[in-house]
Amino acid sequence: MTDERSSFPERLKSNAVAVEALLETLLDPAVRGGEISRPANLLEAMRHAVLNGGKRLRPFLVSETAALLGGDVQAALRIGAALECIHCYSLVHDDLPAMDNDDMRRGKPTVHVAFDEATAILAGDSLLTFSFDIIAAPETALSDRQKTALVLALARAAGHGGMAGGQALDLAAEKSAPDETGIVLLQSMKTGALLRFACEAGAIIADAAAEDRQRLRAFGEKIGLAFQLADDLLDLTADAAHIGKATGKDAARGKGTLVALHGQPWAEQRLESLVAEAEALLEPYGARSEVLAETARFIANRRN
Ligand code: IPE
Ligand code: IPE
Ligand code: MG
Ligand code: MG
Ligand code: MG
Repeated sequence: MTDERSSFPERLKSNAVAVEALLETLLDPAVRGGEISRPANLLEAMRHAVLNGGKRLRPFLVSETAALLGGDVQAALRIGAALECIHCYSLVHDDLPAMDNDDMRRGKPTVHVAFDEATAILAGDSLLTFSFDIIAAPETALSDRQKTALVLALARAAGHGGMAGGQALDLAAEKSAPDETGIVLLQSMKTGALLRFACEAGAIIADAAAEDRQRLRAFGEKIGLAFQLADDLLDLTADAAHIGKATGKDAARGKGTLVALHGQPWAEQRLESLVAEAEALLEPYGARSEVLAETARFIANRRN
């Protein structure tokens, strides 16, 4: 397990390796109790969507927020894996021709290109459902009360009132440009909701006080906004080969982004203030929260 004193990049890497190994096992061909069969082609598409070198930032946030508040490490890893399944499903559907129509993701062909559209839709559906399976499964060593709280919070973060709702607003914004409030709303939903859940999940896993849960939720909100702002900047400034997905497409599609509205220097300034606000929320935890503060800075300064 990761030593408490190891550096941020080491912790991120070691958590990613652990999550990858867990996902690999969860998505093996063995049929689990209650399942009838795991069709090979569908399972292959799900594995293509998941086991392909993402940053695993959301699972990392679950693990680090749980660790901050004394939550169980293995349970946090499983909740992180569950969240990553929803994140990967959101990417598979986001890349579909009916949505962003992208051919490359994480440096590889997108699922609908490597397989076909119907398989990509079903792989996404299956990953979404599987996420709740992972939470509820007996192998997740949490109380029924904690599992229910996680299911509820994740459902609200991922559904029509969160990520999927945000994706709907994102598509609508291609047709009628939203103002700043509209853009912040859509981003807080399409990207912010899952990142906020990642941080709140740590508090649920640790059975933390309501005040801590609220504080981590607020921290998650700040880094969620920062994350999408950085993503929009990368779309403008980065090299596709480096970030493993197409760039320059937001402007081409007329996506509603704050970078489009206010320009790059404003966005960079705004990123700095979001990180400062996120860091301020961690103050009560002192030095123990340094890894989370570094995560906020990493999100703002990331190059992929
Ligand atoms: C990309 O998310 C999609 C957005 C929400 C902007 P990430 O940048 O976390 O993608 P991976 O998981 O590392 O590929
Ligand atoms: C994606 O936003 C958000 C979700 C998948 C929920 P983007 O469309 O900007 O993400 P990328 O740039 O394709 O990764
Ligand atoms: Mg999109
Ligand atoms: Mg996209
Ligand atoms: Mg983008």
